Amino acid sequence: MYYFAVEGGTRLSGEISVGASKNAVLPMIAASLLADRGTTVLKNVPNNADVRTMLAVISQLGAEVDFDKKSHKVTIDASRVNSYEAPYDLVKKMRASFLVMGPLLARFGVARVSQPGGCAIGARPVDQHIRGFQKLGAKISETHGYTVAKAKRLRGTVLHFDRPTHTGTENILMSAVLAEGKTVIINAAQDPEVVDLCEFLKKMGAKIEGAGTSRITIRGVSSLKAVEHKPIGDRLEAGTFLFAAAATGGKVKVRGCPPEHLSAVLFKLEDMGAKITGGRNWIEISAPRRLKSTDIITDPYPGFPTDLQALAMAALSIAEGTGVVWERIFENRFLHVMELQRLGANITILGDRATIIGVDSLSGANVMASDIRAGAALVIAAMSAKGKSKISRVYHIDRGYERLEKKLQKLGAKIKRKEE
Ligand code: EPU
Repeated sequence: MYYFAVEGGTRLSGEISVGASKNAVLPMIAASLLADRGTTVLKNVPNNADVRTMLAVISQLGAEVDFDKKSHKVTIDASRVNSYEAPYDLVKKMRASFLVMGPLLARFGVARVSQPGGCAIGARPVDQHIRGFQKLGAKISETHGYTVAKAKRLRGTVLHFDRPTHTGTENILMSAVLAEGKTVIINAAQDPEVVDLCEFLKKMGAKIEGAGTSRITIRGVSSLKAVEHKPIGDRLEAGTFLFAAAATGGKVKVRGCPPEHLSAVLFKLEDMGAKITGGRNWIEISAPRRLKSTDIITDPYPGFPTDLQALAMAALSIAEGTGVVWERIFENRFLHVMELQRLGANITILGDRATIIGVDSLSGANVMASDIRAGAALVIAAMSAKGKSKISRVYHIDRGYERLEKKLQKLGAKIKRKEE
């Protein structure tokens, strides 16, 4: 098992590029199943564990897959898919495997997918996905831990999500594109990854309007073809470098992500005293010697992303003053707090709110990652701390980042991957 050995105290500086967004690539890999002809090509794909898991899921279904890790190019031929089942072994590794349900159901009229179950950050049910498939006319049954959906052909409908669900919106989009007639999704997720998935589906021949708003209209077509696409840059990876620079008093230019995908975050970084500049596809941060505290509320896009909450908290831990973080998306996304406390942070939790009283400095310690972003938050805290830290369970971080340590080294961080 790998761990990161980090020696804190270096100001990060320099330029870095982000790869394609993991959370855009995953639904696109699933959407490639919709093409009954041609080869899908995805570019700039990060070689992280979640991407490899999604490719394993569709390979198991009979898709021919190639991932050239040097050129970061994925090619997929889904013309001979001959299985409609995503098994427990793969779905338990990654909840997003549930995204194959929509495309399988739409193209083959049947899908059998292991139920994802809970995860470290919360219960995370998929009831909104299921309700959507039912509204589209699918019969759903649940047996032996699997959800089975069947429909001769899906029929367009109007559905209203209880709350804007990111993968729920994607799953319904990928089923409605081949349904008969018009589907309207109300209270849809507005995230840039959802918009990019719509761009990808439209290239394939889908008819979609309203992407990026809370009301998306889809007019079903009878078939879709494989296409080439370069997904948007990863705003969460970009946010990681911005908070890393902020917490170490650094100056970093991040290429590959437009500022508007992170506007809520950039606004908060400015509140914290950082100077932000940006252009078409880049953001630069220049952080003060000491950050100022601020309050953060996580919300669906365009609100402050829950995925960067832990990273913001790492920075707030050493800011001047007291800040409150209110986590409104996931009920258990505070597992990083105990680990930040081990590094000397002064944080108390009351329900879904955490109060962070900034300390003068953190001090290196042994800590443990519990999910992708909690892990990245600990890396940031360790880089800003005095002395050495050991961050174990790096496999969580590797799910969402391709060699995070290499990119941080390029910015001057003293971080090494080591084996136990
Ligand atoms: N929810 C339901 N029922 C549903 C679906 C969602 O109650 O059927 C609830 C969830 O439990 C949660 C809220 O609605 O409280 C929002 O969840 P959402 O469905 O939007 O999350 P998700 O689609 O499962 C995606 C990302 C996550 C990211 C969240 C929030 C992917 C593959 N995953 O998850 O990313 O945190 O949206 O933005 O896109 C990560 O990359 O590390 C990650 C966890």
